[in-house]
Amino acid sequence: MENPGEQPLISLRNAVKTFGPVVALADGSIDLHAGEIHALAGENGAGKSTLVKVLAGLHHRDSGDFEIEGQPVSFATVADSRAAGISVIYQEPTLFPDLTVAENIFIGRQPRGRFGMIDHRLMRDHASAIFEELGVPIDPDRLAEGLSIADQQIIEIAKAISLEARVLVMDEPTAALSGHEVDRLFAVARSLRDKGAALMFISHRMEEIFSLCDRVTVMRDGRYVTTRMIPDTTPSQIVRDMVGRDIDQLFPKFDAQVGAPVLEVEGLNRAGVFRNISFCVRAGEIVALSGLVGAGRSEVARAVMGIDPIDSGTVTLLGKRLKPGQPMAAIRGGMGFVPEDRRKQGLVMELSVLRNTALTLRDGLARFGIINARKEAEVAAEWGRKLQVKSSSPYNSVATLSGGNQQKVVLAKWLATKPKLLIVDEPTRGIDVGTKAEVHRLLSQLAVDGVAILMISSELPEVLGMADRVLVMCEGAITAEFPRAEATPERIIEAATDHAKAAAS
Ligand SMILES: Nc1ncnc2c1ncn2[C@@H]1O[C@H](COP(=O)(O)OP(=O)(O)OP(=O)(O)O)[C@@H](O)[C@H]1O
Ligand SMILES: [Mg+2]
Repeated sequence: MENPGEQPLISLRNAVKTFGPVVALADGSIDLHAGEIHALAGENGAGKSTLVKVLAGLHHRDSGDFEIEGQPVSFATVADSRAAGISVIYQEPTLFPDLTVAENIFIGRQPRGRFGMIDHRLMRDHASAIFEELGVPIDPDRLAEGLSIADQQIIEIAKAISLEARVLVMDEPTAALSGHEVDRLFAVARSLRDKGAALMFISHRMEEIFSLCDRVTVMRDGRYVTTRMIPDTTPSQIVRDMVGRDIDQLFPKFDAQVGAPVLEVEGLNRAGVFRNISFCVRAGEIVALSGLVGAGRSEVARAVMGIDPIDSGTVTLLGKRLKPGQPMAAIRGGMGFVPEDRRKQGLVMELSVLRNTALTLRDGLARFGIINARKEAEVAAEWGRKLQVKSSSPYNSVATLSGGNQQKVVLAKWLATKPKLLIVDEPTRGIDVGTKAEVHRLLSQLAVDGVAILMISSELPEVLGMADRVLVMCEGAITAEFPRAEATPERIIEAATDHAKAAAS
């Protein structure tokens, strides 16, 4: 952004949005200029996604001013905001799986040729031209089904370009991407900025905000706090703006007594997915399973838990062999599992926060098949407090929580079972910095209490900060193991990327 004095492309002032008694947005204010990438930062539940939905015409603001190039606007529908040049990319893209890539880009406005027939060639050529411009090789004729999240997002961006969007809003686009996918997305974002678009970017990762963005606006409790130029500020300054205090320790790691093996995995195989996986996790130990997205880490975790099938190998929990394919038996044996895809695997969206938290405890809370409702509420309240779950009432459905708070409910639900072995898959994805430190402190404390923890994480600082031992996976095999003292970013990255070399050394 060369000249902050010029008229903003978009200006939102004092926007208010309530849902019944809940004030999701008390003072939503932001200016977006052409040619800038503007970060929106704030804790879970600060109102970022609500502000985005107001810009997108998905939510109607109760009050406040909204102008585009100085002209007041009001959007009744998403189509109105599109027509005004605003495109939004949500964390979970919404493509139609049975349509081709090109059809998804042009859906609802397919170019028509003679006799009103859809002109597939023209559509495909348009799509190819956009992908070429973006420098990403995606086949416009393939079905959307099976595309990676990263590719789906690029397709949403291609759609925005084809709509000649002047404003592109990305709500946590990087949460599920691997390192090189993030690089690719950033390259596309920068080139759009350089062509004069205004971009808004939401992320909980400070390093992303600082490498990509020109300015940052911070929100707290639904209110505008401040806007700063990135070159003139620091991550800790932004964190202070977000939470109103300093965060002293992001990775609190306590000394835990490492005891007897809790989980022993021997020679686990599943054709085409992973091979010859053997490792052990002891009481009081945090073992990290590191590697790139797609290396097979989540698949191993799901197999250990008995959710996915295996071809051969054994899983032993506290000295007892687990039967494959029986996750309920694993849970009864003391295993807890916080999955990666929490929306699909972790929560029942239409049930309340309270019910979701207590879901895994139903056997324990029931007598003669009747749930002790008071107990259920107590347990939910206790864990809600520990994890600072922000909801107006525990009786509200989890669907109304912000993304990060939904993730906290999944964590709460498993911590409440008091597991002996806890498997956490990307435990702090989408969780704000303050709560991140809180989750890390909880994991550390669990280890001190003798729980064995297997932590899958793509974030190297988290792996290095929390793990007693690091296992690295690459292409379905464990390629290296480092004790805490020997784990360095270089060693882990090498083992995660260069399988052949790592195997030979
Ligand atoms: N449809 C709704 N009904 C009731 N409350 C809602 C609804 N949508 C959002 N809220 C509440 O508004 C607040 C702001 O939510 P929002 O999703 O905007 O937060 P966010 O800043 O995007 O957080 P995160 O970083 O976790 O994604 C939260 O307390 C949330 O529970
Ligand atoms: Mg959000």
